Parts: sequence; C-alpha cells; structure tokens
Amino acid sequence: MNDSARSEDEARAAIVAAARRTIALGINSGRAGNVSMRWHRGGGDGLLLTPSALDYDAMRIDDLVWLPVAVPAGERPGDEQPMRCDGERAPSSEWRLHRDLYAVRGDAGAVVHVHAPFATTLACLPRVHAEGIPAFHYMIAVAGGDDIRCAPYAMFGSAALSEAARAALQGRRACLLAQHGLVALGGTLDAALELAVEVESLARIYWQALQLGEPARLDTAAMAQVHARFARYRPDPVGPGGA
Ligand code: 13P
Repeated sequence: MNDSARSEDEARAAIVAAARRTIALGINSGRAGNVSMRWHRGGGDGLLLTPSALDYDAMRIDDLVWLPVAVPAGERPGDEQPMRCDGERAPSSEWRLHRDLYAVRGDAGAVVHVHAPFATTLACLPRVHAEGIPAFHYMIAVAGGDDIRCAPYAMFGSAALSEAARAALQGRRACLLAQHGLVALGGTLDAALELAVEVESLARIYWQALQLGEPARLDTAAMAQVHARFARYRPDPVGPGGA
C-alpha cells in the first residue's frame, strides 16, 4: 500500500511492524535502531517515530511519537529532547537525524536506521571510513550513486551525527555510520526497509570479497549505464501520508 493511503493508526502499525521486521530479517538486534515515516498533521509536515529504548515486541502503536519537521525557535544543538513531541514516551534518541533528513529530503517518506551486522562491521574499518563501499557490484546503484558513503563517527543522538548523516546521504538513499550502523531512506516504508536489507546484503558480499583479495571495481561509465537502467527498472515510489 502507498503510505499516503493509510490512516494514522495504520501508519503507526506499519512502523511497528517494520521495526519488528528489522529483527526478523537479521539486520538489527535487541533494541537497536529506529524507524520513522513522514506524517502530516493539520497541514504541518511532521514524522511518526519509534520511541527510545523500547523492545520491539513490547511496542504498541500508542508508544510512537509525532514531532514536527520544522525546527522550533530556541532549539539548541545540545538538546537531548525535542521542544515539541506528541506522545507518552520519549522519542528515539535519533529524533534529530530523522527529522533533519525529512527537512532536506523531499524524496524521503520513511527512514530506517539499523545496526546491521555486516554493514556495521565495515563501518568500523578505516578504509570504509575513507571511501565507503565502492562500486564493487552494480547493485551499489540502489543507494543512488557510485558508492555508499560512511558518515564520520559522532555520538549517537547528537546534532553532529545528524549533520554527518545528511552530508553522507547527499545524492544517496543510504549511508553507513562509522562505529554505529546504517541509515536508509525511501519514498515509502517498504522501500526504505528493502533498501536497508539490500545494503546489508552488499556489505556482506563486499566483506566476503575482501577476505579473498582486493575486489575489482566498476568504472564510472559502467555505473552510469546501471543508473540509467535503474530509472526504468525500479524507480523509488513516493508516498508520505497524513491529514
Ligand atoms: P533509540 O532506542 O533511542 O531509538 O536508540 C537506538 C539507536 O540505535 C541509537 O542510534
């Protein structure tokens, strides 16, 4: 279903289901990670977001929070909590990362952050900090470019991490976070989740290839052909919802 066709309760249920799927799919563990969907309220741009540090099996739709995308006057980079947040629970510690992405990425209808094991393994390596995951395989194009960048390390939940992720995601739909995990965005929740799975799969194959030697790389011309084909083969759907 296109996310725009949902009621808010359906959207909340889809977010909880997606968060649980990250565990079932093996791209996340424990209480790590967070999931959001762009959700307008009363004409205002905002997002529905998972709460902080709550087990996904125990999570109910009322545990999710809503916050506006617009940055309130007076917010400071060191603020741990948003100035406005509708809900009983504290929002994910990465509320700023999610919110700030929606602010600059009109193409983002959903954001998935996970601590996927192979992507996170690579995100601990200096060579990956320096050059990301290069075009060792044509499917690198699913993330939108000729590589998947790795945002430099910053404290989880910090404004610095949000800033680093936004920079690494310029012209991309996914990036690694150094010593942390990965972020994937999509027009819909399904698209963001699918991309997170694909990035983890690419990370596993790259890791495997690195065990055997130096993987060969596709050049810019080869990747340009893949990008052109992808525009027809699997365009990213767009579907932020709300009232
Ligand atoms: P939250 O439980 O606060 O969402 O934090 C999990 C996480 O992965 C932080 O990066």
